[in-house]
Amino acid sequence: MPTASQQAARMLSGVIQKPADELAAMLIRPPKPEMGDLGFPCFTLSKELKKAPPQIAQELASQLSAIEPFAEIKAVGPYVNFFLSTAAVVESSAKAVLADPDAWGTSSDGAGKTVVIDYSSPNIAKPLGVHHIRSTMIGSGLSRLYAACGYKVVTVNHLGDWGTNFGQLMVSYKRAEAENPNQSVDIDELLKLYIRFHADAENDESLEEEARGWFKKLEDGDAEAVRLWKIFVEESLKGLKKLYTRLNVSFDVYAGESFFNDKMEATVGRIEKAGLLEESEGAMVVDLETDGMPPCLIRKRDGATTYATRDLSAAEYRHSEYNFNKCLYVVANQQELHFRQVFRVLEKMGHDWAKGCEHVKFGMLSFGKGVFGEEKATGSTRKGHVVFLEDVIDKAVDAAKKIILENARDEEVTAGAETLAEQVGIGAVIFSEYLQRRQKDVVFTWEKALNLQGDSGPYLQYTHARLSSVLRKYGKALPAADAIDWSRLGTSLEKGVLMAIAEYPAAVSRATSENEPAVVADYLLGLCAEFNRMFTDKENHRIVTDDEALSQARAGLVEAVRLTLHNGLALLGLAAPERM
Ligand code: ARG
Repeated sequence: MPTASQQAARMLSGVIQKPADELAAMLIRPPKPEMGDLGFPCFTLSKELKKAPPQIAQELASQLSAIEPFAEIKAVGPYVNFFLSTAAVVESSAKAVLADPDAWGTSSDGAGKTVVIDYSSPNIAKPLGVHHIRSTMIGSGLSRLYAACGYKVVTVNHLGDWGTNFGQLMVSYKRAEAENPNQSVDIDELLKLYIRFHADAENDESLEEEARGWFKKLEDGDAEAVRLWKIFVEESLKGLKKLYTRLNVSFDVYAGESFFNDKMEATVGRIEKAGLLEESEGAMVVDLETDGMPPCLIRKRDGATTYATRDLSAAEYRHSEYNFNKCLYVVANQQELHFRQVFRVLEKMGHDWAKGCEHVKFGMLSFGKGVFGEEKATGSTRKGHVVFLEDVIDKAVDAAKKIILENARDEEVTAGAETLAEQVGIGAVIFSEYLQRRQKDVVFTWEKALNLQGDSGPYLQYTHARLSSVLRKYGKALPAADAIDWSRLGTSLEKGVLMAIAEYPAAVSRATSENEPAVVADYLLGLCAEFNRMFTDKENHRIVTDDEALSQARAGLVEAVRLTLHNGLALLGLAAPERM
């Protein structure tokens, strides 16, 4: 169902000959109730039409007749003002939410379609750094959004579990083992081995050679190399999954780069059969000059396959296995060329479905001054310049716990402080990823990471708890949605809240079509702001009154906001506490 602003924009579009989207973006919420519920300013048109804004407003208003959901449309000064009929907005907001809370915000837009989402996909054998939060959260947000829109979703973790870095780990593991036969290999130890390798290699060039030797052994199936590789992968996965669970993230499939070791031969064969494989300086490539790109490297001079070969194989595998309509790769901007090359090669191979592959890019995370106690941080794990995601989460949870205990007003909050702190601290970490559009670069600072106030996950969670508390105070069960006398609502602030609720399904579908979970985050902040405007005007919006029908309608409105917020938080992977 179109929202009130969409309908106003459509009506205007019929008389102004401009696209409805453009007009919708111009609509404002008038500051005073007597100015209506939506206002269309005529200033910009004034230049084009060479007429005074009030005259344009008069002319437009006279051409529009008030049909649902509007009760009246009239010119007031330089604005065309739209007055909503409460009954009409109620249908597409509060009533719809209460009638079927679970279905609120879902659609069947994607019915019968499958989307594969490749996200997080870290290079393992070292703990997750804070930058991994980007792909991890954007991807998991998208997986829930697509599911809400009726798609069948397959989430894939394309782990970086193969490469010379495993050879490096083997070298330093062997050295450490020689010093201490009980050398352990948990994830923390792996990081030490990694740092040790790079420190040692600075003074000893032969180590790189030795590492390549170990990797070659691994590729050839040498028993000791394979044994160590398996241990490294297993230990990394243990640490990784622990974190994923805390972040409310999961995958249907873990199919890392190594999974394609025995599948690439066939892929390379198909590339060759399509007449695309060429030799270039001893390596095998697909020329992409006519596409304005450097050649895509398929086999290196030493015969080794590449990151691109694995991705080509993975795409073919995903298509044959899941028959996807879309395959999304949630990966940083830096890999843009890589994905353009891979998608182009797939097309050249005759894979029509490659059109469904999309690189969902995001900006870089860099480190602010002082994060590593020096002017310029390199963010390089090798130098130990790394902020671990787990540390960020732990610190956020600690900060949340402190605030919760300081402000706890009832026993129940104090008793549940541990769980609540985990929900709120993690809520802050997750939500900070959704505060900006994904393409924007982000600068990590501890102040920002640990900020639990302002536009944040905890603010939304707190609003949810507050709504729950209002309903607890009301204390009565609500009747069925159509037994509530919604016509009792009608102040402009109530209509504002109703309109905000009605926008939710559109926000979900826009977030999905733009692959931008931030749209939902933004929407939820707006919804809470609208609710708080009403809530602050206590005098006129009491819930407990002598007039039970009025109380019911207001409690119904509060419950509809709460459910919308609850569903939105769930889409983003945040808990919705009832007390805080
Ligand atoms: N492991 C890669 C990295 O950390 C990202 C993998 C993304 N997915 C893919 N299919 N290439 O840079």
